[in-house]
Amino acid sequence: MLVLGIETTCDETAAAVVRLSDETKGDILSNEVMSQIAEHAAYGGVVPEIAARAHLDVLDRLVDRALERAHVTLADLDGIAAAAGPGLIGGVMVGLTFGKALALAARKPFIAVNHLEAHALTARLTDGIAFPYMLLLVSGGHTQLIAVRGVGDYLRLGSTVDDAIGEAFDKVAKMLGLPYPGGPQVEKAAQDGNPTRFDLPRPMLGRPKPDFSLSGLKTAIRLEAERIAPLTKEDVADLCASFQAAIVDTIIDRSRAGLRLFREQVGASNAMVVAGGVAANGAIRRALMRFCGETGLRLVLPPPALCTDNGAMIAWAGLERLNLGLVDDMTFAARPRWPLDANGEAAHHGKA
Ligand code: KG4
Ligand code: ZN
Repeated sequence: MLVLGIETTCDETAAAVVRLSDETKGDILSNEVMSQIAEHAAYGGVVPEIAARAHLDVLDRLVDRALERAHVTLADLDGIAAAAGPGLIGGVMVGLTFGKALALAARKPFIAVNHLEAHALTARLTDGIAFPYMLLLVSGGHTQLIAVRGVGDYLRLGSTVDDAIGEAFDKVAKMLGLPYPGGPQVEKAAQDGNPTRFDLPRPMLGRPKPDFSLSGLKTAIRLEAERIAPLTKEDVADLCASFQAAIVDTIIDRSRAGLRLFREQVGASNAMVVAGGVAANGAIRRALMRFCGETGLRLVLPPPALCTDNGAMIAWAGLERLNLGLVDDMTFAARPRWPLDANGEAAHHGKA
């Protein structure tokens, strides 16, 4: 089984070809990504109109390249998958329409993929993990703990009540005068910083429901920065290190609460899977390794290129759905919002 996947929900245009290698895992035959970071950097964040236009400019060439590098033609494919949301609507429409048109022209089944489901299933592409498992999704747009029970079957254990963690990294970076995207810059600055210099809050710590809140922490950083301004390089490093330490403590505490809830409501978890751009952070990765070591949980950290947005995860989610006979028609509309668990609910009742 061979599927082409297209991803255009945010600021990365991506196309990939993935094959089912045995019954449980996938082979990535090609995985082409074109980042728009340079186009958005001057604005300090993603500009939706620029994103949609940039996707349109490069998508056809990128899909050609993905097919070429995989040494396949459209005729060889068993299905064509495109992310249909959630995300920036203009960009989603570009990828979705392109995918539908290709499927129509090549007479192939079309699969509309939920971008979050694609993140959730990546651990099966890379490691063939069996259901159920706990997913920590930490990106620029999402911060959620999810029980992945099956394809289309998700239970949201907790999520952020305000900012996503990646968004908090980006906002803190901006506050401290570091360039966009801020996550890697904050991590780099934190390496030379003192993580105990500032006494920052750890919002939600100890709460049984594994929700997150980042806005209080973000405000605390702003107040500290204003108090000691003008900032030296050392101040910036110490603020970044203290912020990152607070995030690490929060992630571990919330994951512990999430695991407790998972065990109560779902049973034993086969693994803890981490996805999203923030999973590239070394301090967070190390803390999760310690946490999983202590709790006896298998930790699956896909390589950074498969944690951030990519086409392989869309192709794989499409392949898993196609394998179950879950295909979509040409009326499927782009969805700016598309919660995983609501989809799971609907799928459960035969509505999706
Ligand atoms: O998953 P992703 O590529 O895009 C979506 O948001 O869907 O995640 C991007 C986010 C950005 O907020 C970026 O600042 C953050 O991930 N990020 C990091 C690191 N690398 C990327 N945050 C902390 N540390 C990093 N090393
Ligand atoms: Zn994403």
